[in-house]
Amino acid sequence: MTTTFENFLNKFNEQQWLGVLTSVLPEIHEVDRNAAQIWFRFYPLELFRYLQTAENKEKAIQQFVMQGEYELKNQIDSSHRFLYGHRFWKETKDAINKHAENFEGANADLAHEIRRIAKAAAVAAKTDANLTVGITMVGLMTLVQVGFDAFKQSAGTVSIDAKTKNQSPQKIVEERAKDDSQGIFGFLKTIDKQWTVNYIDDTDSGKFRLMNDEEIASGAARDQSKNWVERDFRRGEGVIPVECRSAACGTCWVGVLGGAEKLSDVAPRERKQMKIFGYQQGEEAKPLMRLACQAKANGAVSIVIPPWNGVFGKKIYGGIADVTLEPATTSAAKLREAISTAMTDE
Ligand code: FES
Repeated sequence: MTTTFENFLNKFNEQQWLGVLTSVLPEIHEVDRNAAQIWFRFYPLELFRYLQTAENKEKAIQQFVMQGEYELKNQIDSSHRFLYGHRFWKETKDAINKHAENFEGANADLAHEIRRIAKAAAVAAKTDANLTVGITMVGLMTLVQVGFDAFKQSAGTVSIDAKTKNQSPQKIVEERAKDDSQGIFGFLKTIDKQWTVNYIDDTDSGKFRLMNDEEIASGAARDQSKNWVERDFRRGEGVIPVECRSAACGTCWVGVLGGAEKLSDVAPRERKQMKIFGYQQGEEAKPLMRLACQAKANGAVSIVIPPWNGVFGKKIYGGIADVTLEPATTSAAKLREAISTAMTDE
């Protein structure tokens, strides 16, 4: 049985949630402003609702060529570990539970409810509310997608990166986009400049190097420091899952936590393909959501790697003409038929 609070939260569609997120964005500390926006793009409500109500969910998942961990019910405590506010997850979850149990609902306003819960979580965690607004929104959307019982029952485990554990939010913001020193003759260097990419995913974090103006996915593939495929079967080539390397499959999407302005502008092909995949990129020249096989860096950046990928834009958001996708590699060619079906199936 759904609670009154769930019924209230369920009234809002994805666009409305994103609208509320935009309206509370100035109240979110800079350290989590991009992260909260990225998280909402990683777990789109309309896709969740489509799958929930699909007559044949398994078939829909196949049609959308979805692979990896796309369901929040399996990652209630971990999907948000790239938010600074993740460290206040226990307090935030408790505040949401308490709020849900006491909610009466008359004339409630979503932004107002978010602020109240974030304040209660901040008091319990002895921190500022601007550090709990982002994680509160993430917590509420998690509740919407997993249901109150599962939400309440999760352990509330927090897993913080050792490196960032004792860093201030401001320091983390600075580190995310701090360019590497190129040595005393750095000003003479052009193509041989190198940049650091900091990455975080659902279980790990680390860094790899890029040459100036190189696609993020190419640098990621040179990092063979770990058995990537053992951690995630999609990572056959390195840190970031890739398949086609030509903006054709959607495997390599990433969120940019810091340094988005140092990436190349989105080219028309990436723009068009992101819509087809269903990844909400936004219309900016240098948005927070990118394809790692297309975005080239001319400075240090920090990214977050989602645990899944798919092709669902046409069915979920519409407004996309039929296209023929041409995956560039043999291994990607096997996706062609499935993607083509996903594109044309009504
Ligand atoms: S690897 Fe296929 S879209 Fe980037």
